[in-house]
Amino acid sequence: MPAAPSKTFYLETFGCQMNVHDSEKVIGTLISQGYRQVSTVEDAGLILYNTCSIRDKAEQKVFHRLADYKKLQAQGKKFAVLGCVAQQEGEKIFERAPHVSMVCGSASYRNLPQMLVQIEAGKRATGLDDRETDECFETEFTSRSNPHRGYITIIEGCDKFCAYCVVPFTRGKERSRTSGSVLAEARQMADLGYSEIQLLGQNVNSYKDPAGKCSFAELLAAVAEVPGIKRVRFTTSHPRDFGPDIVQAIESVPTLCDHVHLPVQSGSTRVLDAMQRLYTREQYLERISWMKAAKREISITTDIIVGFPGETESEFQETLSLLDEVQYDGIFGFKFSPRPNTPALKLEDAIPDAEKARRLTALQEKQRDIQMRKNASNLGRVFEVMVEGKNEARAQWIGRTSQNKVMNFKAPNGAVPEVGVYVSVVTTATFPNSLAGEMVI
Ligand code: SAH
Ligand code: SF4
Ligand code: F3S
Repeated sequence: MPAAPSKTFYLETFGCQMNVHDSEKVIGTLISQGYRQVSTVEDAGLILYNTCSIRDKAEQKVFHRLADYKKLQAQGKKFAVLGCVAQQEGEKIFERAPHVSMVCGSASYRNLPQMLVQIEAGKRATGLDDRETDECFETEFTSRSNPHRGYITIIEGCDKFCAYCVVPFTRGKERSRTSGSVLAEARQMADLGYSEIQLLGQNVNSYKDPAGKCSFAELLAAVAEVPGIKRVRFTTSHPRDFGPDIVQAIESVPTLCDHVHLPVQSGSTRVLDAMQRLYTREQYLERISWMKAAKREISITTDIIVGFPGETESEFQETLSLLDEVQYDGIFGFKFSPRPNTPALKLEDAIPDAEKARRLTALQEKQRDIQMRKNASNLGRVFEVMVEGKNEARAQWIGRTSQNKVMNFKAPNGAVPEVGVYVSVVTTATFPNSLAGEMVI
């Protein structure tokens, strides 16, 4: 049997955009330590999983992977568990999967170089922070996977403690980067040819510049005004911290995309209170009304949890009526999943899984009708799209509008739009989850 090649790694990422971007930074760090990324577990000396713990299913994935590849330990391969499950489970992971050498939460990635040395020496390494760190994970080299569109983390952690959510426990307290360092990264990306930037944070709009120079809305505008940047997005906004100045920034800066993801979770003020979301249905709708009154048409998407403990049928109906009222452009619906450490774990009145599933289906069916109608209103309209790829089988290009809608389009005879360029497309057909069109020359 050939010896396992050392200094090669394979990394698989689960979870949200924050994790995807953390992985790009982890890859940059590993490369700076002399490692080379490979695309299969078989070719790798070090196998890393950047994990998610938001729902039980997500957490189970990493343990399935570890069980599947346990036998590879015999070839000298090492395993590392990073991210939210690592921080949540800590050293218990070594008990459950003894072939793991490294467990590291996201607030400890700055220690990765030393930890790599430790595991190379055959020891175990742990990087588990209490919630008290005030450092952000900045690296000299971030290995971004897409050359046109890239993420910048502006705030890490979360101080909100919604009753159902693990994030405050897995990612530590809120800490923002200085506006100067965010802008420097945006300029560097523009110099490298990036035209779209997505600013990231679990609570992106709780951003507070440690240098005291700008508010979140001002930072948005400043990034959007970096020469060469054509699109700026941001995710995820918390309704409590969502002010009218964000809407004004979108109105006045054309490069800020006309899309806001504003998770509501429930349409019932009673459930929102039990979830500790810090706003009522009415306060949430007030924020929606600011966006609807804007001079630009802002597309709005949300996250919803069905079957939170004690959610009655009539409270669920309030969520359905909220969909009617807001007319979202898209929703992500989830069945409530009880999570370790969270206050909701101890709540009584659990909703049976079959009932959660029924509510989720009802939610998605209603939303499908809304999206069908909303998207149909785009027929005949021309959108600027950024080309993201090609569907060879259907001879169609795939692009995205500023409103974050997927546009599948045909190019007129012989035209070959390149990935990363911006083209105009007229909408010729609409579907619940996408638009279709033809490129206009
Ligand atoms: N920071 C963002 C979202 C973080 S997690 C916010 O505050 O809205 C992404 C989504 O996962 C949440 O919006 C929520 O809808 C869902 N989610 C979080 N914890 C969950 C749980 N325990 N069960 C089901 N869905 C959950
Ligand atoms: Fe979780 Fe709430 Fe923080 Fe969002 S705001 S990450 S849902 S605790
Ligand atoms: Fe999952 Fe952690 Fe993101 S729990 S959703 S990877 S912050």
